[in-house]
Order: sequence, then structure tokens, then C-alpha cells
Amino acid sequence: MKEIYIKDIKNLVGQEIELYGWVETRRDHGKIIFIDLKDSTGTVQTVCGPWLNESYVLAEKLRSEWVVKFTGVVKERPDNMKNEKLPLGDIEFEVKNIIILGESNTHPFDVYGDGKDIGEEIRMAKKYLDLKRPRMKDNLRKRALMFKFIRDYLYKNDFLEIDTPYLTKSTPEGARDFLVPSRLGAGLFYALPQSPQQYKQMLMVSQVERYFQIVRCFRDEDPRGDRQPEFTQLDIETSFKSQEQILDLTEKMIKELVDNLYPEKHFTEFPIPRIDYKDAMTKYNSDKPDIRKNKNDPNELGFAFIVNFPMFEWHEKQYNEEARYVAVHHPFTKIRFDENITNEEKIKLIKENTDKLQAFQYDVALNGYEVAGGSLRETDSQILETVFERLGNSKEAFKKQFGHYIEMFGYGVPPHGGIAFGLDRLLMILQNEESIREVIPFPKTGDNRDLMMNSPSMVDEKQLKELKIQISK
Ligand code: AMO
Repeated sequence: MKEIYIKDIKNLVGQEIELYGWVETRRDHGKIIFIDLKDSTGTVQTVCGPWLNESYVLAEKLRSEWVVKFTGVVKERPDNMKNEKLPLGDIEFEVKNIIILGESNTHPFDVYGDGKDIGEEIRMAKKYLDLKRPRMKDNLRKRALMFKFIRDYLYKNDFLEIDTPYLTKSTPEGARDFLVPSRLGAGLFYALPQSPQQYKQMLMVSQVERYFQIVRCFRDEDPRGDRQPEFTQLDIETSFKSQEQILDLTEKMIKELVDNLYPEKHFTEFPIPRIDYKDAMTKYNSDKPDIRKNKNDPNELGFAFIVNFPMFEWHEKQYNEEARYVAVHHPFTKIRFDENITNEEKIKLIKENTDKLQAFQYDVALNGYEVAGGSLRETDSQILETVFERLGNSKEAFKKQFGHYIEMFGYGVPPHGGIAFGLDRLLMILQNEESIREVIPFPKTGDNRDLMMNSPSMVDEKQLKELKIQISK
């Protein structure tokens, strides 16, 4: 079957070869039919004429998006027919034989334009057609290149890539969990991870020191332009590093990524400014300020590190939740105490000075979006217990939910901290897209549905029975 890709046929002038691909357009000029043939690497103009004999009838039949195998000869075009604007504008392909491998229905929408004038629902319902679009292809390619760049960069810097389970247990990142019923433990549930937070901290106890993972995270929240129920993080954790060392590492990676993949873009400020949370709130009234000088410039990247977040935040009563303190980042974050105070004094401060405590937490803001967040972690179980208590958990509830996690603090825990990037968000901004749905290959709708697969959906009565689940009417 296929051995030759269209982009490579430039060097095959004079040779008879086989091409596999799709019909892009067909132009009838009396006896001569021009067919633009495309594959994943490019498009070439092919010429069909009466010399095709019985195959000529097929050339007349062909329509856009049909799948074909053409046999023929690569020819240099006469000088006056060359088209400098096309990568293969110097050559054409004289077709000798046609085999139709698959016909195609007329597409429900145009797949050659940018698609911005087409309803999103129909694009999502036929995502496999929408992904033909050059704009989507570019987003897919850049997504792949970004993943590859990050992997190469972190491997070069001695990070170890480790994957962690998706069937796991709830970890408090502030959203609702997606639950998965267990068949073997009927009545029990796994939770899909909101992030690998606990696992990556455990890996620090395993003496991994430098971990990373490009990982899917799951959060049952109301989606928005920059929020999806499943999204992809670049998750990083390191041991023995200060906050500033983690920011420095992050900054270097961002710089190299942009310089390599987006050389046309420039930073508003570099080194990336470190902005105190309080100053961001005073000056921009936002903890993810847009620091760009010119917001109309698609090539300006206003990166900022926001530092010194408060540890706790008071949430007023809403819906069915009581008024309470929540952790601004997550409960595992290390509080900024004076270095020389005792645990007793720290505990007293957590209980009595809750609103005033700052955390070793940092976010990366980019053009008004939060693209990453991280922190140094608390490694003293007594302090952690107090934090959880302040968040409204009883000692017993805490032990029950985090017993496994607390136990590890007895086994040589290094000081550690990390950061996680929302890669979909970062890519959305770098690609000048308005929504992360444009850079996620198969995104979900505004109400978390997959229109193409028709999911979520009902399941068989038999499946429910196995899980001992009853749907209440
Ligand atoms: P955090 O919850 O801040 O931190 O998440 C890190 C980054 O992930 C992105 N993000 C999302 N992107 C798309 N859709 C969503 N629903 C969504 N939720 C978050 C954001 C965010 O900055 N475990 C910690 C990291 C750490 O402490 O190391 C964590 O997950 O860009």
C-alpha cells in the first residue's frame, strides 16, 4: 500500500508512482479534468485526460473528499504554468489509472475555511470532519509539538516522567469529583483525579526528586471558555527546591518553549515579573492580571508570576454549602511562618490569625488567564491536621480521608513543591484562540456533553445490576 507522501514527490519527476489520498477539488475543462489530490502532507494538482481510457469515467465521477489511489507520472509543469505560491506549484501529476477506495457524502459544513462562521454544535457533533480544517490541523500539530518540546526539555533536565492512576480517590482541589462505581467492591466508588497532587508528593518520598507528567485531570465544574471537565496538565514536583528556584525553572522552560515554537511572539517583560498578590489586587483588581502593553497585539505575551497568596479565604454561605474557610490553593500548601517560631505558635496562628496567613503559593498569569499554579508543601502532619481542622474537617474525618497521606510523613519526607500548567489554556493563548475547546482534539460542550459520541448516556439495566446501582425516578 502507501509508500509515498505527497510532500516528497518533488524529487520524483519522470517516475511512475502510486499516490493515495483524497480529492480536494475537481475542475472540468472539457476533455481535461484537473483534480487536486491531498494527503496529510500536502496537495498536488493532478491531470486526467482521455488517455485514461476506462479510468476516465471514474475521473468524471469523483467528488470532493472521495478516497482514491492514483497511478501516474510526476511531471515538471511548463514554465508559464508554474505557481510559486504553492509548495508543489512546479509540478503536476499525470494520472494513468484511478481506483476509488471510498466515496464521501457531501459534508454538512465547509472544512477548508476557518469555520468561525459555523455553529459550534454542528462542528462538535461531526468533530472528525471539523478536524480536517487547516486551523484545527495547526492546533493539533502545535499541541503535539508543545508536548514534545516539554518532554524533551524536562528529560534533558533530569526529570522522570511517571504516570499515575486515573481510578483513584478524591483529592481536594476545590471542584466536584467524577465518581466511578466499583463492580468488585459494590457500593464503593473510585474518584477520577482532579490532579495527581497526592501521588506526586508520594513520589518525593520515593526519592524521585524531579517528577513530571503530561496528565489528564477531571473536575466536575460548570465549563467555560477556559474550563473543561477533562483537561491536560503539565504536572511537576521537585524536592529540596525553594519557591524562587521553582519559578526560575518554570521561567526558563517557558522562554525556551516560546522561542522555539513561537519565535514571532515577544514577552511584555522578561525575566517574568514577580507580582505580590496584594499588589495585583490593588493595581489590577485581579489575581490573574493582564499586564500586556498592547492588548490588540496577537504576538504579545504578558506572563506574570503572582506570589504571596493568602493561605485561607472566607467563603460566604452559598447553595447548600455553609459559610467556611477554604484553602486558596489547596490544603497541602505550606504557610509562610516566621522561621523561628514553634509548632505551638504556628497552630495558634492558624486558629486565630487565619485571614492574615500567607502561603508559599504561586500562579502563572498570562494575558489575563491563570495558566499555572503551584506551591511548596507542608510536611509537618501536626500543622496539616490543624489546616484541615480550620477548613472544617473533624480529626476523625481527616484521618479517614488522609490517613495514607499522613502516614508517609513518617518516612523521610524531603521539603518539596511543584507546579501544574493548564496546557489547553496555554495553547489557546499561544494559538490566539478564544476558547480551549478549539485546542482540545475532542472537547465537550457547555453542558459537558460529547455530541459526537452522545455521552453521557443511559446504560444497560444489566450493567447497573452488576454495580448494584438503582436510578431513583
Ligand atoms: P490548579 O488547580 O491551580 O493546581 O490547576 C493547575 C492549572 O490547571 C488549569 N486548570 C484547568 N484548565 C482547564 N479546565 C479546567 N477545568 C481547569 N482547572 C484547572 C489552570 C490551572 O492553573 N495540583 C495543583 C498544582 C500544584 O499544586 O502543583 C493543581 O492542580 O491553568
